[in-house]
Amino acid sequence: MRGLFITLEGGDGAGKSTQITNIESFFGSKGLVVVHTREPGGTHIGEKLREILLDKGNGEMQDVTEMLIYAASRAQHVRELIIPALEEGKVVICDRFTDSSIAYQGYGRELGKQVAEVNARATGGLQPDITFWLDIDPETGRRRAGKAGELDRLELEQLDFHYRLYDGYKALLEKYPERIKRIDASRSIDEMRDEIYAYLEELCAARGL
Ligand code: TYD
Repeated sequence: MRGLFITLEGGDGAGKSTQITNIESFFGSKGLVVVHTREPGGTHIGEKLREILLDKGNGEMQDVTEMLIYAASRAQHVRELIIPALEEGKVVICDRFTDSSIAYQGYGRELGKQVAEVNARATGGLQPDITFWLDIDPETGRRRAGKAGELDRLELEQLDFHYRLYDGYKALLEKYPERIKRIDASRSIDEMRDEIYAYLEELCAARGL
């Protein structure tokens, strides 16, 4: 039996954490076991890599180094946590996954196609069953993230970086229209939740859950 693998994506300030909590209660009320995890991170090794990636003091980090560390965190995460949980029939909800690397490193850092290639190695080809892209325009997102607290190394990037990665998400949506669902994050939290729940009901029905 295989569980469900659900990922959330988006630029800064899109409101992912609130919707992750909603998704957790959706599956909890169906009596399914939910594992909530995140990238970079999710494992002991991954969390150490996360510190390196987000540390504002690491300004000398090269773009390729950055891409490889995100992929290294993911390789560990997939093998140590995600696949075993899916094999036990659990619902894995992951805050960011490969699409983030394609958007941030592929488009934001302009590293292009190599990002997908490296990540195919990192994940062994594992793809989410469904991905919610919480779509917020980069300027609004940045304003919201700035209010929420201190910005990390990637959040501190210039606005043009955030516009490039936004284009990355749009390209991903076009490439994977079946898997990726665009959720307009300029609406209220409840409106977003209702749309996400409708997609999840559809997915559960298709999987007999
Ligand atoms: P996090 O605090 O989790 O950001 P958010 O709350 O926006 O999800 O920090 C993760 C940061 O790392 C975020 O700026 C996005 C970036 N990132 C990448 O650049 N590539 C990746 O593959 C992943 C997973 C995240």
